[in-house]
Amino acid sequence: MTTLQTYEIHGDVALITIDSPPVNALGYDVRKAIVDGFEKAAGDSGVNAIVLTCKGRTFFAGADIREFGTTQKSPVLPEVISTIESSPKLTIAAMHGTPLGGGLETALACHYRIALPTTRVGLPEVHLGLLPGAGGTQKLPRLTSVEAALDIITSGRQVKSEEALSLGILDKVCSSEDLVKEALGYANDLVADNAPRVLVRERNDKLAEHKGSAEIFNTFRSKNARRFRGFLAKENITKAIQAAVELPFEEGLMRERELFMELMESRASAAQRHVFFAERETIKIPDIPKTTPVRAIDSVGIVGAGTMGGGIAMNFLSAGIPVTMLEQKQEALDHGISVIQKNYQRSVKSGRMSEAALESCMSLITPSLDYADFSTVDLVIEAVFETMEIKKAVFSSLDAVVKDGCILASNTSYLDINEIATSTSRPQDVIGLHFFSPANIMPLLEVVRGEKSDLEVINTGMRLAKTIRKTPVLSRVGWGFIANRVMKFRSLQADSLVLQGINPETIDKVIYDYGFAMGPIAMKDLVGLDVIGRGSTELTVDSELVSMDRLGQKKNGGYYDYDENRQRTLSPIAMDLIKEVAAKKGVKQITADEDEILARLLYPVINEGAKVLDEGIALRSSDIDIACIKGYNWPVYQGGPMFWANTVGLDNVLNKLREFEQQYGDAFTPSPYLEKLVAEGKEF
Ligand code: CAA
Repeated sequence: MTTLQTYEIHGDVALITIDSPPVNALGYDVRKAIVDGFEKAAGDSGVNAIVLTCKGRTFFAGADIREFGTTQKSPVLPEVISTIESSPKLTIAAMHGTPLGGGLETALACHYRIALPTTRVGLPEVHLGLLPGAGGTQKLPRLTSVEAALDIITSGRQVKSEEALSLGILDKVCSSEDLVKEALGYANDLVADNAPRVLVRERNDKLAEHKGSAEIFNTFRSKNARRFRGFLAKENITKAIQAAVELPFEEGLMRERELFMELMESRASAAQRHVFFAERETIKIPDIPKTTPVRAIDSVGIVGAGTMGGGIAMNFLSAGIPVTMLEQKQEALDHGISVIQKNYQRSVKSGRMSEAALESCMSLITPSLDYADFSTVDLVIEAVFETMEIKKAVFSSLDAVVKDGCILASNTSYLDINEIATSTSRPQDVIGLHFFSPANIMPLLEVVRGEKSDLEVINTGMRLAKTIRKTPVLSRVGWGFIANRVMKFRSLQADSLVLQGINPETIDKVIYDYGFAMGPIAMKDLVGLDVIGRGSTELTVDSELVSMDRLGQKKNGGYYDYDENRQRTLSPIAMDLIKEVAAKKGVKQITADEDEILARLLYPVINEGAKVLDEGIALRSSDIDIACIKGYNWPVYQGGPMFWANTVGLDNVLNKLREFEQQYGDAFTPSPYLEKLVAEGKEF
């Protein structure tokens, strides 16, 4: 018997409690403890029912992801499930927190399931590029319906107790907070009523209507084709649920296992597991101990009610934090606030937000034309024009009015936080909080630490991210910080390839096929060519298109022409312009296949990532991956640029960069850090 399990007898009910912090993941010790408990109860003649529950923050949150890729010791999860299913006693899972993945599969082995109202169940394996490999795909459709199982397992979403009860995943929701007491009472009632021992595996009623017809699966596939692109797991989940309908239970299980193993060995799943841990790693900063205080942020000031300021404000309003918004002119202020209202109204229209929630968010805004209104706020974020002089003037005005301990943050994308901090008397309270556009949607928050930023201030910035549902990545000061800096190199290469005669459509296709939602040229048209080239005097295709008033999607088309449904076709005008600009600049024309184009576009990103690491701008390569995934939608199943580089082989990346350097010059000169890693046979 292991110490992480307690076994208690309450009348004729055995209560098995597992306690394995932080989330009762189903590692070897936990699996063994469950089996020990069930075997003990099976041999206990005084026991008629078994309640399985967990201590701590949650019922089993799934398999122990750290064990993936290793040979697991017996009892493996299917053995645990089979032990529970073959128990001669009545079995009840009593759940709280987030019973996910293997955790929910364990509960599905029991005859009955009871949970607290706050419990959220789910099969989130899809987020790890996997499918539920211990019967989940065979049992959920049997319990709920094929439609519900397709939705829940391919989305990986968490289902709240109330919905889980209505879907049949739960049999009972507690009416109090005392889960154990209610579960024991429920067990007594079931025993007294001589309740049937319902094994989900034996139920077939919900499957009958789809037997012999693939229609529901084909419709589901075609409806989601675009969203599911590149995600092998979603296709395999659909296949496994189809097997649940078509095959007897045991054969369905075998099919599920085959499809699971295919995913487990896939590069996509390795990438997604890397991302799972990388996301949780960003918050860990070597010189900031866990005990470092966090300042309370109960009110926020925002300077600038433009697109960025408004988007930033929405994050706080949605989290219930009051925001004072400052502008120079009443008109700009009114406009900014009306845009926020319109954005929320769009959410209400699409059913993602209630009218009451909209009202409550809007009521948290205090409009202001006077810096003095910031005198009591805990944090001010500046989101004004990207000019050092203006930023310094703003920070100096802030310094004069804010209270002691107020954090002063700049949303600058490129400027030096240390220099901005010199315009205040409190550089220790100054940091960068860099949001990505659209700021209310993109999940990345780069927290920029200045040379003098206090550890407490940095820590507060990092922790604040969770409150506003962002992923924080720490950066030191340097041009473009992390995401913008490395991704810039993809844009530069896209422009260069266009001038060298590579068809813009091919460039967009290569990036789309890699997994991005859109290629870099189509993206320029979307953002607006006037916005992209602002301030530059260089002769470029962009500047020539702008001079012809071709601004992109918003006006007259850009590289592409757009029809009334925004379908694009490459513009002959743009193609002529490209040739003209290339001729004027004397650019040599080349041909390249798609692999070569991909390498040209993305290896420079990796190379710049190596420099960012070498300079200490980013703490770790996985932080660069997260910055690109959360800030630029780098396809999660590629794992981010640095993880992807490891899978390509750093020596291959280096050799190609050297080749490009020979052909096209020093834009491709390999980072000495990359050379060092290759020489030492290491990876990022
Ligand atoms: N295995 C190993 N470690 C896990 C884990 C798991 N399944 N789930 C969470 N952890 C760890 C985290 O890495 C983190 O560790 P550190 O503190 O050392 O960073 C710690 O538990 C706490 O996690 P969070 O910071 O994420 O805490 P949270 O309260 O915000 O969220 C949670 C809790 C909802 C359970 C979230 O951690 C989560 O979604 N976990 C993954 C759940 C999952 O995917 N389960 C399915 C696993 S696959 C499976 O079960 C396949 C199968 O059928 C065989």
